[in-house]
Amino acid sequence: MASHDMASIAQALVAKSKGILAADESTGTIAKRLTLIGMPSTEENRRDWRELLFTADGFADYISGVILYDETIRQKAKDGTPFVDLLNKAGVIPGIKVDMGAKPLAGSPDEKVTEGLDGLRERLAEYRKIGARFAKWRAVIDIAADQPSNYCLDVNAHALARYAALCQEADIVPIVEPEVLMDGDHDIDRCYEVTSAALRTVFAALDTQRVVLEEMLLKPNMVISGKKCPTQASAAEIAEKTVRCFRNTVPAAVPGIVFLSGGQSDEDATANLDAINRIGNLPWEVSYSYGRALQHGALMAWGGKPGNVGAGQRAFAHRARLVSAARDGRYSA
Ligand code: 13P
Repeated sequence: MASHDMASIAQALVAKSKGILAADESTGTIAKRLTLIGMPSTEENRRDWRELLFTADGFADYISGVILYDETIRQKAKDGTPFVDLLNKAGVIPGIKVDMGAKPLAGSPDEKVTEGLDGLRERLAEYRKIGARFAKWRAVIDIAADQPSNYCLDVNAHALARYAALCQEADIVPIVEPEVLMDGDHDIDRCYEVTSAALRTVFAALDTQRVVLEEMLLKPNMVISGKKCPTQASAAEIAEKTVRCFRNTVPAAVPGIVFLSGGQSDEDATANLDAINRIGNLPWEVSYSYGRALQHGALMAWGGKPGNVGAGQRAFAHRARLVSAARDGRYSA
């Protein structure tokens, strides 16, 4: 029954050669992306962009599931087919972002806590009816001289665990995403330290709140140098430290780790995932749940021009093929 289904969905999302497309940008975030190509963020333009992605030839060979936003999961393609049906027909599992965004943390306003627990049980029941089989909740952890505080790690882990428990109650696989941001000038070892602390706190909370590890996925950042750090770690160092960090903090019962790209270039996100998978003999499947790294090239190739839809779709399928190769540790730049 339900639990068996959730474990199978979690495994299907991290099947060999496949990973997740994050297309769940909130209305504010998608507006920023469309601005890059000079497009106003109207509901129709947002629909056209997502339709380009979801109808790209061959994309289902590399994409196991798509994370949708509230607007998108209710949207229809131009020919009237609901996006959820279109994805299901292609063999791609529909998912839904259910958090309501990161807000200033009371008592420590430079840090953030993710909101969205109120009414979540009811929203999950509705999304399950619409067809969502998995969900995402993102906590945001910033690195600064005296941040993150234990307070910030604790409340975010508590919320992630409450969300995950509610998802499993609703027969929806939770993707648990504690994102340690790569902004800042910290080095890779500081990222290692904060990512370890965040993961330990998250798994303690998941345990307390009785979340079934076989029925969830973890969506973390890689262990990586801050964007403004003068020394940038190589792919080999990123892979070695990422794997060591996760081996020490993530139980083997978790079926899969799906990395976010977090502002890395398309090429870096691909090369680093490849280096991680080349280490081999990992206790979990190690795959991707990329937003920007899968979409950026396609967005540029499309440029919002109807005549460029094919070019956008080819760029998307091309990047998805490379990331899929990296997920299996057989990418060559
Ligand atoms: P990026 O890969 O662009 O970081 O997006 C993934 C995501 O869903 C962040 O929540």
